[in-house]
Amino acid sequence: CCVMIEIPLFVILCINTECCVPDVCRYPLGMSGGQIRDEDISASSQWSESTAARHGRLDCEEGDGAWCPETTVEPDNLKEFIQIDLNLLHFITLVGTQGRHAGGMGNEFAQMYMIKYSRDGSRWISWRNRQGKQVIEGNRNTYDTVLRDLDPPIIARFVRFMPVTDHSMNVCMRVELYGCKWLDGLVSYNAPAGEQMKLPAFPVFFNDSVYDGAITHMMTEGLGQLSDGVMGLDDFTQSHVYQAWPGYDYVGWNNESFPSGFVEIMFEFDRPRNFTTMKVHCNNMFSQHIKIFRQVVCYFRSDSDWESTLLSFSPVVDENDPSARFITVELTNRMANAIKCQFYFKDAWMLFSEITFQSDRAMYNTTLVPPTIGSPTNTPPDDPTHKIDDSNTRILIGCLVAIIFILLAIIIIILWRQVWQKLMEKASRRMLDDELTASLSIQTEVFGYNHSQSRVTNEQESNAAYERIFPLGPDYQEPSRLINKLPEFAQSSEEPNGAPHYAEADIVNLQGVTGSNTYAIPAVTLDLLSGKDVAVEEFPRKLLTFKEKLGEGQFGEVHLCEAEGMQEFLHEEYLFDIPEDQPVLVAVKMLRSDANGNARNDFLKEIKIMSRLKDPNIIRLLAVCIYSNPLCMITEYMENGDLNQFLSRHEPEGQLALLSNTATVSFSNLCYMATQIASGMKYLSSLNFVHRDLATRNCLVGKNYTIKIADFGMSRNLYSGDYYRIQGRAVLPIRWMSWESILLGKFTTASDVWAFGVTLWEILNFCKEQPYSQLTDEQVIENTGEFFRDQKRQIYLPQPVLCSDSLYKIMLSCWRRNAKERPSFQEIHRRLSDLES
Ligand SMILES: *[C@@H]1O[C@H](CO)[C@@H](O)[C@H](O)[C@H]1NC(C)=O
Ligand SMILES: *[C@@H]1O[C@H](CO)[C@@H](O)[C@H](O)[C@H]1NC(C)=O
Ligand SMILES: *[C@@H]1O[C@H](CO)[C@@H](O)[C@H](O)[C@H]1NC(C)=O
Ligand SMILES: *[C@@H]1O[C@H](CO)[C@@H](O)[C@H](O)[C@H]1NC(C)=O
Repeated sequence: CCVMIEIPLFVILCINTECCVPDVCRYPLGMSGGQIRDEDISASSQWSESTAARHGRLDCEEGDGAWCPETTVEPDNLKEFIQIDLNLLHFITLVGTQGRHAGGMGNEFAQMYMIKYSRDGSRWISWRNRQGKQVIEGNRNTYDTVLRDLDPPIIARFVRFMPVTDHSMNVCMRVELYGCKWLDGLVSYNAPAGEQMKLPAFPVFFNDSVYDGAITHMMTEGLGQLSDGVMGLDDFTQSHVYQAWPGYDYVGWNNESFPSGFVEIMFEFDRPRNFTTMKVHCNNMFSQHIKIFRQVVCYFRSDSDWESTLLSFSPVVDENDPSARFITVELTNRMANAIKCQFYFKDAWMLFSEITFQSDRAMYNTTLVPPTIGSPTNTPPDDPTHKIDDSNTRILIGCLVAIIFILLAIIIIILWRQVWQKLMEKASRRMLDDELTASLSIQTEVFGYNHSQSRVTNEQESNAAYERIFPLGPDYQEPSRLINKLPEFAQSSEEPNGAPHYAEADIVNLQGVTGSNTYAIPAVTLDLLSGKDVAVEEFPRKLLTFKEKLGEGQFGEVHLCEAEGMQEFLHEEYLFDIPEDQPVLVAVKMLRSDANGNARNDFLKEIKIMSRLKDPNIIRLLAVCIYSNPLCMITEYMENGDLNQFLSRHEPEGQLALLSNTATVSFSNLCYMATQIASGMKYLSSLNFVHRDLATRNCLVGKNYTIKIADFGMSRNLYSGDYYRIQGRAVLPIRWMSWESILLGKFTTASDVWAFGVTLWEILNFCKEQPYSQLTDEQVIENTGEFFRDQKRQIYLPQPVLCSDSLYKIMLSCWRRNAKERPSFQEIHRRLSDLES
């Protein structure tokens, strides 16, 4: 197919495991990527050959750009659909739709649609959400992809998208399915219908509310809550998660209705399988006469006969701990295509929320298992009464693959958790350390941040769901040991003599007054700088006239001011580009008068460092006001504002710009600007300065496309969307950050190189689009995880239209996983200069 970028690759936790954890199992199934073949895509009708079903692929523009049915879609006659045959059962958690864009020619899209699915190709089931609603909101324009979670997820081989309208209209669709293979192989379960419990306060309904088969007194030929990946809460009366009735998350039965003393459930599978275990998630609120089952007896059917040898298992009944839990039943490698289990009551009620089967470990081929992981000590405790912890978060279902894959997932989670914790800690430390504050003397209190001291460690909570699924081995408490086992980590954590890498601790904390990451510099450089005089002069404060606020940090601000008589304070080297006797535009960074001693010291250090930065492409420190409060630092400002706004106001040269009469910037001038940024960065990196926030918003444009790199901090309202707020506190420009900065908190010249690549990309897009604009912040971070894992699932920024192949190559080299393989700024500068000439 056409487009190579698979947009929503949300998968973060599983490496090659096929899980049915709804939050993990979100792989595109191959409409846009082409893995689904044309002949497996069909439709009720087509308007023409060029709008046949095979053109209904998300993000593809072939043919006339989408699937379109032959006639208009009528509100009262839903018969049109596009159908996808996945050939195997899949667990589908997410769907995506798009209209017909066709390079601007199309204007058809589906505002609403329904999903129908089938496991066998004959019995079709309409998907409905947990509230029973069938119609899904679709697109609002022809080009945006709209993703919708399927909750409950579906297990199907065939899926149909049926456009729905409220008036007669033309509709075209492009679609994608997201999920993973359904390795359980469970095709249906038959069970007695769930019953109602009459508590004094309110009735509790244990019916299987998402069962997709027939329901009378028996449920037949369907799948439902027992296979939807959602585990019930410890307290079944608390089912507020889905705004549903009490007991929603369980299917339950009362012993009075079963004189035989057991509930029989039959499970049908897609083919004969070699079963290892069955896991049953049971409630155990014994105070309400609910207990796990006393005994289970299972029969196996191979071919068409039930075998005479049965299997019996009695779990340890637990009357101390009322929490819900998984009971693991060993199925001793029996071959079967159906299993019938009789669950015996221990008490008046038995409640199940999930039953999973593990089979055919041998069919997974071991090349999927990375050779580095395999410590036998990691085997999760398979204790049948393994305790599941309690909290009200939604629970996900366990992995479907054999234990080895579960292990793999655990390790990835641990890694992710470790790395995330590190990031959080860094972020919170940075916030706490960041005591530089500033304000204008004439300003009133402007700092709205509530610098509360609550630590950012809630990630325990957010990971609770995973802890439930994957029993924690001893390694979980000490993830650092694990991380060292991965050679890639071991290697990346020590960098011998290469590009300088400074652990956070080595970096003198020189956060700018704006609360951002102004140049972070290694302690050693600072030592070199100290002892010399500050070569800037004191400027009379009264000659500054406030014009506009440029930036605001947690504790400080940057203002745009006009300075009168600045000429007298400048060294000759500046004078040529400043008109005489005219006010000069300057940026003024300020420190709040009541800032504490540390903050004042840091501010003075920053002045010292800034005063040493002398490069045509770096903003210069012009003067200071340090004799009285508030302390100020006066730096250059450039008349055309920042590069982001500058380019947003301009268009590429061409017909379009001529017609719309907008100002243009030529390609060679774009290159010229990029080269200057590279040159400025080359200078910074030669001093071992790490900028940490290189982006077009931090570059200033002067006359004739001259560029100077600055740093205005992270809280300019205009760009607040560029920064990711961790727990509402730390802010990070994640879309510009290298994977190691996000995951490991490592900021180096190489991570500046990464940011340069993104900056270059912005420039060539005329800053019309935010990097990864189609991804949410969380997805950007997930994509970072893919960069780390490097399994070709990471998404790169696409090649901008204006961008030549050689330029794009430079960008891609900036985003290499291995920091040492990224080019130096010297090299980038050389390559850009070559391109220019
Ligand atoms: C389950 O019970 C609830 C509450 O009475 C009811 O609203 C719902 O329709 C039932 N669902 C099924 C599938 O029977
Ligand atoms: C089932 O799998 C186990 C372990 O892989 C193997 O030893 C056994 O022979 C298999 N059973 C059958 C009937 O194939
Ligand atoms: C159901 O369970 C309760 C509590 O264990 C018991 O008292 C009652 O006799 C049982 N009823 C039947 C029909 O077995
Ligand atoms: C493992 O799977 C890959 C891809 O499905 C296949 O090409 C390869 O032959 C398999 N190897 C074994 C040993 O089964």
